[in-house]
Amino acid sequence: MTPSSSSLQSTSLIIPGELKPADGRFGCGPSKVRPEALARLATDGAAVMGTSHRQKPVKSLVGEIRSGLRELFALPDGYEVALGNGGATAFWDAAAFGLVRRRALHLAFGEFSKKFATVTTGAPFLDEPIVIPAGPGDAPDPVDVGPEAAEGGVDLLAWAHNETSTGVMVPVVRPAGAGDALVAIDATSGAGGLPVDISHADAYYFAPQKSFAGDGGLWIAILSPAAQERIAQMHASGRWIPEFLSLHTALENSRKDQTYNTPAVATLFLLAEEIRWMLDGGGLDWCVARTRASSEHLYGWAQQTAYTTPFVADPAKRSLVVGTIDFSEAVDAAAVAQTLRANGIVDVEPYRKLGRNQLRIGMFPAVDPADIQALTACVDWIVERSTS
Ligand SMILES: Cc1ncc(COP(=O)(O)O)c(C=O)c1O
Repeated sequence: MTPSSSSLQSTSLIIPGELKPADGRFGCGPSKVRPEALARLATDGAAVMGTSHRQKPVKSLVGEIRSGLRELFALPDGYEVALGNGGATAFWDAAAFGLVRRRALHLAFGEFSKKFATVTTGAPFLDEPIVIPAGPGDAPDPVDVGPEAAEGGVDLLAWAHNETSTGVMVPVVRPAGAGDALVAIDATSGAGGLPVDISHADAYYFAPQKSFAGDGGLWIAILSPAAQERIAQMHASGRWIPEFLSLHTALENSRKDQTYNTPAVATLFLLAEEIRWMLDGGGLDWCVARTRASSEHLYGWAQQTAYTTPFVADPAKRSLVVGTIDFSEAVDAAAVAQTLRANGIVDVEPYRKLGRNQLRIGMFPAVDPADIQALTACVDWIVERSTS
């Protein structure tokens, strides 16, 4: 059957209630916000919404986020949690100004890891970066890049813990032989859902709308002593750095439990709430156990099902938090996604620029592994009725 005939048939299907997941949000950012957290925003959050971010109630929230992340990631001595407005995209600009001394090296294996490379390529005060690419669904190995970085005078190594566009994860390992190059990890979708030993990273940065089940607009960066020293050096270097993008300014404010300019208070509240939920549940290991349970089911199902295959060929690179599943030609994944959406099960469409016959599924800690099982059952139910 052709994709168009399958789409005509499937969009009118009504999935039986007992098959459906309890929560139908499977997006990769913004991702599911737990209803309990939203309920608390309307009750406890009401006391802080609409109050000054320079006063104790909001500053206490920021303090709780900073200490909660310190505990969640078991930060070594001297590491700091900084935060600022503008999301992970703003952090790329801030890092180009305040973390890269002269030259960066990027592992570029999808939309987001390429975007940071584009920033340092365009920065007129930096040398052309070294960019090590990989095709969609794959990633270069960071372990190998140390000697090339040292030879090329690189002072910052960058890659994504999880490439959200393709569902590829890459471990956070400090490559040997890279001199004093800082390791800057885009953990926007990986942080909180993937295992990490933070001592291998100098800047581990993310935004709250993925694994932290919050809302966007904020960046958070866990900074090693070496990263803080580099920030101080760049601040003193005479390079012009816009105040909004100054990591020096962000760090000074973060140490006082505040942001340089006005934050979205609800974003802070939801982030603090989710960190508390993660810690109460058992910390990072517990979060990873949930994403592992979800992803083992998803990839197992995709391997056993006749019309699906995991997009990422190497099982070790298949993300625990973002699952990308290719569909055979006989099944139109876009039509399946449309039917799911019509039934309240949303945001499983693939990353728009990837252009594949694929579903992409967010399996962040807040997503119940039982809901991933329900989702695959719903997909099977739709496909059985669309292709017969
Ligand atoms: C890996 C990764 N990096 C960076 C970003 C950009 O984040 P933000 O929208 O918070 O700027 C995203 C957003 O999807 C992402 O997935």
